[in-house]
Amino acid sequence: MSAGPRLDGRRVLVTGAGQGIGRGIALACAQAGAEVLVNDLRAERCEEVAGEIRSAGGTAASAPFDVTDYDAVTAALAAHAPPDVLVNNAGNAGAEGFATRARFAETEPADWEAFLRVNLYGVLHCTRAVLPAMVSNKWGRVLTVVSDAGRAGDPGGAVYGAAKAGAAGLTRSLALENGRYNITANNISLGTMRTPLTEPLWAEQADSPQAKAILQNYAIRRPGVPDDVTNLVLLLASDQGSWITGQTICVNGGFSFAL
Ligand SMILES: NC(=O)c1ccc[n+]([C@@H]2O[C@H](COP(=O)([O-])OP(=O)(O)OC[C@H]3O[C@@H](n4cnc5c(N)ncnc54)[C@H](O)[C@@H]3O)[C@@H](O)[C@H]2O)c1
Repeated sequence: MSAGPRLDGRRVLVTGAGQGIGRGIALACAQAGAEVLVNDLRAERCEEVAGEIRSAGGTAASAPFDVTDYDAVTAALAAHAPPDVLVNNAGNAGAEGFATRARFAETEPADWEAFLRVNLYGVLHCTRAVLPAMVSNKWGRVLTVVSDAGRAGDPGGAVYGAAKAGAAGLTRSLALENGRYNITANNISLGTMRTPLTEPLWAEQADSPQAKAILQNYAIRRPGVPDDVTNLVLLLASDQGSWITGQTICVNGGFSFAL
């Protein structure tokens, strides 16, 4: 049994949990005793992670859907008991990772859609779908994985940052509207992580000028890994996190600081 906050008896939905940070969060929640609903756009990834959890003795179900499609979200979730904890993790520009980076002045409205649909609308859809049951149960947790791109700015990633900042703003209103029902809402703001999304940068070009230039901006000169995030998720998702709400907590190796 894992030490630290426990989630026994809680149902946790993790979006975009087929790989990377979401997968790490799903595995950690299961290890802490939660029943995990593993979402991803890619059904085979959901199955794989849910299978991994079950093989380790945990409880998990697979819930493939596209967070950008509200009808698909509600239809898929109707087949499962409502979650007590939602981790809005699905992000980036789609199933294949970040779209081309470009200065905002060089982008067109059509380029913005992929960022806004996953990083902002995806969060709106999943949160709207699960919140009424949390209110009825008078207990809930909404955690949203955002990015320092939305706090500190990101030249070349302006719309991604704007979408993440929008999702972070939703959290603050959710906290105020739902605290009376023992529902907390918090953001976890990440710096550059080592996940399948960014793996080429670290695995193939770890000594490249680009990788070195990125790490120069970090007090702790390494990219983050999913395990850097999971203990915070467990705390915020547990009963011990009941007086932490409306916050954006940075897990970023000292890339930027919150005052
Ligand atoms: N990797 C980083 O450096 C970094 C930095 C800051 C913030 N983040 C954020 O962390 C979160 C996870 O990032 P990651 O690096 O693990 O990404 P990743 O691309 O490795 O994994 C994301 C998963 O989400 C799934 N997904 C994508 N679009 C989806 C959709 N519409 N519906 C359902 N699932 C969908 C993908 O299939 C994939 O399995 C994202 O919100 C990302 O924006 C990542």
